[in-house]
Amino acid sequence: MTMRPFIHINCAMSADGKIAGEDRTQVRISSEEDKARVSGLRRKYDSILVGVGTVVADDPHLTVKGASYDTNPIRIVLDPHGRTPDEARVLNEAAPTVMVTLEGCDREWDCEETIRMGKETIDLPGVMEALGEDIGIESVLVEGGGRTISEFFRAKLVDRYTVFVGGLVIGGADAPTPCDGSGWVSEDGVKLELMDCEVLGNGALLTFEPRFRIGSSQAGERTCSC
Ligand SMILES: NC(=O)c1ccc[n+]([C@@H]2O[C@H](COP(=O)([O-])OP(=O)(O)OC[C@H]3O[C@@H](n4cnc5c(N)ncnc54)[C@H](OP(=O)(O)O)[C@@H]3O)[C@@H](O)[C@H]2O)c1
Repeated sequence: MTMRPFIHINCAMSADGKIAGEDRTQVRISSEEDKARVSGLRRKYDSILVGVGTVVADDPHLTVKGASYDTNPIRIVLDPHGRTPDEARVLNEAAPTVMVTLEGCDREWDCEETIRMGKETIDLPGVMEALGEDIGIESVLVEGGGRTISEFFRAKLVDRYTVFVGGLVIGGADAPTPCDGSGWVSEDGVKLELMDCEVLGNGALLTFEPRFRIGSSQAGERTCSC
């Protein structure tokens, strides 16, 4: 049986459903209480994953405050065409980093591991399997952005989806949302089961599990105590 990690998508959106400004710059959406929650979440996960769009837009560290190289989660970046700048913070020495790119991309990075999988687009199920079986990663926290989250939903590689809805309106028809990309869903969308709803300062944390997961017996599906 193939084993993939437990996959948890987490993001923060405004009360009008945006995850950043129309110019793609970062907006402070999380309350202090939500920031503390995310920090605790990161400590529990083996790895944190983002798409290259987030690396280029936000230049995140993807680390845990006070953690060392050995105790930080592994950082994973989906970068099919090799757009991550050499000086990006995700490539610093604060934590191990795995770069994921296309088979045809010959870009090299100074990082722990580079996975080259997929011809036209990254083979997400194959990558998840490789992370689980070859690297021993048991849990992945996907932190965005919208295109990356949509690819995980499209591939039905979601075990838990948490979204913090912050008390602000960002506006803008072109501002990114939690599930962007080209769109793929049937007219029914992806059905989710609301598992929990919690007030966290001036916002609410919603916890969902996708219906395609509930009662399913996907090969290698893992549960997580996170
Ligand atoms: N509020 C929040 O919680 C939050 C969290 C993170 C980011 N953000 C915001 O989100 C925005 C960035 O989102 P985004 O959608 O532009 O970027 P993204 O999802 O971080 O990265 C998208 C890029 O990653 C690559 N990619 C991801 N999955 C792929 C797959 N399965 N196969 C092939 N390529 C894949 C593609 O690169 P190529 O274009 O090179 O093909 C794609 O364009 C920024 O404005 C950031 O501030 C908000």
